[in-house]
Amino acid sequence: MRKIERLSEFTVYNSIDELPSNINALMKKAIEARKNSYAPYSRFSVGAAVLMENGEVVTGSNQENASYPSGLCAERTAIYSAGSQFPGIALKTIAIVAGSKNKKTKKPIPPCGACRQAISEYELKQDSPISIFFMGEVGEVVQSDSLANLLPLLFDPSEL
Ligand code: THU
Repeated sequence: MRKIERLSEFTVYNSIDELPSNINALMKKAIEARKNSYAPYSRFSVGAAVLMENGEVVTGSNQENASYPSGLCAERTAIYSAGSQFPGIALKTIAIVAGSKNKKTKKPIPPCGACRQAISEYELKQDSPISIFFMGEVGEVVQSDSLANLLPLLFDPSEL
């Protein structure tokens, strides 16, 4: 028997104003994208903006459905759109902003498990890390330099 330890490191910015200017601009695109969220059921809207290696930015927002599981998160809407529009181009950075219509969301909202799994596929496929920045409507922004930080012991597709 042995124990293993996985250490994840994150950078925390006090607010969007403290971000490097290119990331600040990307987060502002996520904030814009969030306005297109369709979330009548959860009243929780999320926006995501993906910066590609070629400089293109692809955005997405969560899209819900009366048949609840048919809806899709903002992050997957954005990365699948990026993969569809720019096949073979690496994803460099994803900015995510989320908040509830019921209350002001002040803490950073990390991507859900299913989105982490979906992002990990792209990170493995392109063999380079994807930086992820996430925040609530206001307040701190958290940076992860790789999806692997957010999903330790991830599923290894090379074993298929
Ligand atoms: N949602 C996202 O868009 N991204 C996440 O990572 C977590 C949850 C959406 C899905 C659903 O429309 C709403 O937020 C509430 O779960």
